[in-house]
Amino acid sequence: MTPEWLKDTVFYEIYPQSFLDTNADGIGDLEGIIRRLDYIKDLGCNALWINPCFESPFMDAGYDVSDYKKVAERYGTNDDLIRLFREAHARGIRVLLDLVPGHTSDRHPWFTESCKAEPNEYSGRYVWTDGAFKGIGGHPYISGMKERAGAYMLNFFASQPALNYGWLDRTESWMSATDSPEALSTREAMKDVMRFWLDRGCDGFRVDMADSLVKNDDADKHATAAIWRDVRNMLDSDYPEAALVSEWSSPFQAICLGGFHMDFYLDHHGNGYNTLLRDWETEGGDHSYFKKDSGGDIGRFLSDYLPKYEASRGLGYISMFTCNHDTPRPSYSLSTDELKLAYAFILTMPGVPFIYYGDEIGMRYLDVPTKEGGYQRTGSRTPMQWDNSINHGFSEATPDDIYLPTDNSENAPTVEAQSGDPGSLLSETRRLTALRHSLEDLQADAPFSVISAENCGYPFLYSRGSLIVAVNPSSSDVRVQSVELAGRKIVYSIRSCSVEDGVLSMPGQSFAVISVT
Ligand code: NOJ
Ligand code: CA
Repeated sequence: MTPEWLKDTVFYEIYPQSFLDTNADGIGDLEGIIRRLDYIKDLGCNALWINPCFESPFMDAGYDVSDYKKVAERYGTNDDLIRLFREAHARGIRVLLDLVPGHTSDRHPWFTESCKAEPNEYSGRYVWTDGAFKGIGGHPYISGMKERAGAYMLNFFASQPALNYGWLDRTESWMSATDSPEALSTREAMKDVMRFWLDRGCDGFRVDMADSLVKNDDADKHATAAIWRDVRNMLDSDYPEAALVSEWSSPFQAICLGGFHMDFYLDHHGNGYNTLLRDWETEGGDHSYFKKDSGGDIGRFLSDYLPKYEASRGLGYISMFTCNHDTPRPSYSLSTDELKLAYAFILTMPGVPFIYYGDEIGMRYLDVPTKEGGYQRTGSRTPMQWDNSINHGFSEATPDDIYLPTDNSENAPTVEAQSGDPGSLLSETRRLTALRHSLEDLQADAPFSVISAENCGYPFLYSRGSLIVAVNPSSSDVRVQSVELAGRKIVYSIRSCSVEDGVLSMPGQSFAVISVT
């Protein structure tokens, strides 16, 4: 069963380091999130995804967990997190934590134990070969650093050894089967972590690298999906209100096979999502559909999206996001007017949308030095800009001591400046989320179909249930005639659009939601 609450949910992703620092140590904290829950509610977001907030050496911003059951001291305590769940719930906001099941930090006690020459309970918890001179063909590994005679496999950075869920195609004797005791005990350990937080009030998890568990899996990742199916069975029977969203970007594998409730439509090169607002690396300039007059064709999005939508429809949701902590902010290439249209689209599509903190005010991608393994991702992880006080209201620490610098340009966007301005990106975003909450036909389940994608989608018309949505990212005025438009009226627009006698007129860079009268 799919939790009912997902049908009308807009998520807000929070990178906790950079949201709000309440004790002037320069780093955002859980208390900071609690203090901004009313802001999040006013924005129209009714669920959070919080990036990992657990004990970690922070070699990868917390995606290198050293204790899954303990909040990192810099963010607060377990009790603070439990208080956050309570305070969020009191406002109708759900909270997803970030589960990192594929790897731990190399400082996790499980790993320390598994590095010992003497066999112990954790010897099989990670992927190890049976000799210090035996590597792992085609996979990254480290050898020669530990007492144990073997090489261990990496799942991401050098500090992130791969947990052992077994191998499907076992070409070496040291490769565990997926149903071996050691692989099963890793799986149970991860389910135990999930239960730990679900029992304390968390509403589910965003799952990091969800497709990475079983090694040498088949093309459709059936063995990895089977593990998630087992997890889903646990949720269905013991936590039916809990939700899982995967970092996978293959709805067929993640949702249909694995049982995830939602799967992110990621910014993978060449996929449909990228063609909308992140197509700046293509030869010959930026061809993003939402970039004014880029000539980007909505057909590129549709040919990738429609089969994914059809495959997962009724089983789970595709999650589109404005951005996440791994990718350049959309304002990197889009202007405020372009962002308004892109958000209007994202917030009127099926599935469950995610807004990345700061995107609602068009925070910029900043040119800052790498922090905690961020490298070029760091520019999207800078502190939230609340107002024009010191550090833009993020922290009272001295500016040199904060987690990352804030945008010091004169016109740096802030919540305070945009809040009272009806023409701001923040106000538009608030109106759009309110619109989605007010019309069931714009929410997760209402059917989507293409009405007109002619002329590369300038304009692009689609239906959501009984509604028609139209977007025109080009700078030209457009007119469309369609029998489907007859007798309808505009219920929401960006720039002034009109429908008369079955003809829709839209100025350049406009958007409209049209209902039956
Ligand atoms: C994906 C996360 O989003 C990213 O930030 C992290 O570095 C890798 N997975 C490794 O956990
Ligand atoms: Ca702090």
